[in-house]
Amino acid sequence: MKQVIHPDALRSWLDWQRSKGHKVGFVPTMGALHEGHAQLVRQARAENDVVAVSIFVNPTQFNDQQDLINYPRTLEADSQLLASAGCDILFAPGVSEMYPDGLKEEPLPVALLGLDTLMEGALRPGHFMGVMQVVNKLFEAVGPCRAYFGQKDFQQLAIVRRMTAELELPVTIVPCPIVREPDGLAMSSRNRRLQPHERAVAPLLYQALQLAQSLWAGHEAAEIEHRAAEFLSREPLFGLEYFQIVDVDTLQPVAPGQKKNAVACIAARLGVIRLIDNAVLG
Ligand code: PAF
Repeated sequence: MKQVIHPDALRSWLDWQRSKGHKVGFVPTMGALHEGHAQLVRQARAENDVVAVSIFVNPTQFNDQQDLINYPRTLEADSQLLASAGCDILFAPGVSEMYPDGLKEEPLPVALLGLDTLMEGALRPGHFMGVMQVVNKLFEAVGPCRAYFGQKDFQQLAIVRRMTAELELPVTIVPCPIVREPDGLAMSSRNRRLQPHERAVAPLLYQALQLAQSLWAGHEAAEIEHRAAEFLSREPLFGLEYFQIVDVDTLQPVAPGQKKNAVACIAARLGVIRLIDNAVLG
C-alpha cells in the first residue's frame, strides 16, 4: 500500500491510474479505524479498480476543541488495517496540506433545505459546514467515481449526498450499513475511549432504538420518543441529547400517522464520550 501526505502526490498517482482506465473508489475517514471502516474498504475494493482512503482529523468540523485534541490518532495500526482490507493508497495529510491558506470558513453554495437544522446540526453549530468543506476538498484531491460512507452518521450521509447533487460532483455516494459489536453497540472510533463501566452499559443505546422498532407499528412517534427517552434515563450514566424520529429524506419530524420512510436517531453522552446511532423503522 502506498502512503502520501501531499494532495499533489495523491493526484498524480491517481491520474496515472485513471490514464489506464482504472476507476477509483474512495473511503474518507478520520482514522482510529475499526471493523466498520474495514467493511467500507472491502466494499470499495469489490466495486472499483483502485481504492483510496484518507485519514485526516478535520479541525473545521469540531465545535468542541477538547474533542479535537482527544480524538484518537493511531496511524500505525490504521495503516495495517487498511493494507489488509485492500486499500491501494492512503492519503494522510496534515492540516497545512489540507488548508494551505490557513483554517478558515469557506461556505459552499449548497442549500441544505433543513437537513442540518435538527439533531447534530442543532447541537454542533458549524459541524456540517466543516464536514462539507473537507469532503469537498477530499473529493477534489481524489476525484473518485464512488465514495463510501457509513449509515451510522445518517445526517452526515444525507448532507454529503445533497452537497454532491447541488455541486453536480461526478461521484456516486454509496451508503454502507452500520457495523455493530456482538452486543449491538455501533462501531465507532470513540468507543475505545469509553471506561469499562461505560462500555458495559453502552449497548442500551441500541436497545432504545430496538424498543422504538418494536413499538413503531402501533404507536405515534411522539409517544415512542418519550418511551425511548424514559428507557435510557433508567441508566444514570447516560445523558440523552436527543431521541428523534424523522423522515429519512427530509430529516424533519415525521408527520402524524406517517409509517413509511422513518428513522429513529439517538445521541447521548456516556461520561465525556458522545455516541450516536440510528435505526430505520418499519
Ligand atoms: O465521518 C467521518 O469520519 C468524517 O466526518 C469525514 C467524512 C471523514 C469528514 O472528515
